[in-house]
Amino acid sequence: MVVNITDYRLQLRSHDFCLLVFVSWFLSFHFLLLPYLPIFRSMKKRFYIETYGCQMNEYDSEILTGILQSHDYILCNSAEEADVILLNTCSVRDNAELKIHSRLGELKHLKDNNPDLKLGVVGCMAQNLKKELIDTKPYVNMILGPDSYRDILKHLGAEETHIIDTKLSKFEVYDGLFPARKEGVNAWISIMRGCDKFCSYCIVPYTRGRERSRSIESIVDEAKRSIDQGFVEITLLGQNVNSFDHEGDKFPALLKALTKVDGLKRLRYTSPHPQDVDEELMRMHAEYKPLIANHIHLPLQAGSDAVLKAMNRTYSQEHYLQLVDMIRKYVPDIGITTDIIVGFPEETDADFRETLKVMEYVKYDNAYTFKYSPRPYTKAFKMGDTVSELDKSARLTELIVMQKAHTLERLRQMIGKDVEILVEARSKKSSEEMRGRTACNKIVVFPKGNYKPKDLITRRITDAQGVTLFSRPNN
Ligand code: SAH
Ligand code: SF4
Ligand code: F3S
Repeated sequence: MVVNITDYRLQLRSHDFCLLVFVSWFLSFHFLLLPYLPIFRSMKKRFYIETYGCQMNEYDSEILTGILQSHDYILCNSAEEADVILLNTCSVRDNAELKIHSRLGELKHLKDNNPDLKLGVVGCMAQNLKKELIDTKPYVNMILGPDSYRDILKHLGAEETHIIDTKLSKFEVYDGLFPARKEGVNAWISIMRGCDKFCSYCIVPYTRGRERSRSIESIVDEAKRSIDQGFVEITLLGQNVNSFDHEGDKFPALLKALTKVDGLKRLRYTSPHPQDVDEELMRMHAEYKPLIANHIHLPLQAGSDAVLKAMNRTYSQEHYLQLVDMIRKYVPDIGITTDIIVGFPEETDADFRETLKVMEYVKYDNAYTFKYSPRPYTKAFKMGDTVSELDKSARLTELIVMQKAHTLERLRQMIGKDVEILVEARSKKSSEEMRGRTACNKIVVFPKGNYKPKDLITRRITDAQGVTLFSRPNN
């Protein structure tokens, strides 16, 4: 017995010794390497990405960031310190493209000073302009369309100085790639890509290709992983989010599956097309309120039947207004927002009055308003740009004035009501206050108390100004 114990101690001692030798070798090796660590780090390439356009592009930039970070690239904060610069671009209106042209002009000097720098244009404008972009700006090295991101590493490693990859895919939905999201409250999840609606003014079907959807399983999986990472709200994304169709699984089925995800505090989606908004969808809203947020973005585009027809929007004014009534029947306090275009070719003043008429009826909570911008390749392009810039501006101004009044009216209707608020961050104007968002998508400012971002709280609305609600004890 005694011998055994001694043996055991002896064994331990020899173990200890071996361990000591190993630890000192390990530490000395690493201390010796310590001064060289920055060199190892600098072997990683730095990339910088700037995103323009819609939320789908933001999501795609997160996908690109995820791909690059999982290989030998680190994200940096400015174009000046980068080895690779990517501009994720938009083509929806002419001014979106002009912005990119001028940004590329600004970045040219970085290329002049550092020929090894790789400058890539990706996204919708890359898809739209393709070779033309490199022909006019030869300092651009890489043009990648929205369906070519899986190959970005291969393209960055290639010997060629100029690469163009703009094939559109009928299948690419970036399944299996997890986007690198910035910390926050809301995680965006792209559930479908492309658009088959072909509104006559719109470039998106040409830049994003045909509609295709992910499986419910992969979306639920991404939702769960986002919640595990600390996000509490999910916004589903798609050019026509409610046209979602994966092998017969439709959008309401997806919403239902997501309502079961533990830890999810709010579920949103954008942008639906009015054609695919039906009673089944609104029943889901009613049944899963407040988890499914009581907000719907219902792009009108125009109020006149003649213009709607020429736009190929597939609904009439009457149909649209019936839809609004149906939506409000199921969810009376729903927030409704919209997109409107003024100055579509041949739009008369009387046509424009029809848009104002719809606005008066619906009293939108908010509206994104645009002047018509002719896009080459689209059907409407052939109609010319018949409404003068002066008329477009006058119509836009009238519309904005009306919308501001409606926005305030809708906000004021909430005064005195207790509302659920998802806390987002400190208020921009006061360190004593925080801001959050109602389910109907309105910003509320309130005293900071002990609230933290991501808390779901209930407070009484006391005031409304501009586009903001307030919940202050003394109001
Ligand atoms: N898929 C979404 C929106 C895509 S583009 C939808 O159908 O609602 C976002 C908005 O840009 C559109 O709703 C439309 O109002 C506007 N838009 C698109 N093409 C435009 C053009 N050529 N000129 C002006 N506005 C345009
Ligand atoms: Fe463009 Fe119409 Fe498709 Fe929306 S639905 S992306 S406006 S074509
Ligand atoms: Fe622009 Fe492409 Fe989105 S054209 S609006 S970035 S889908």
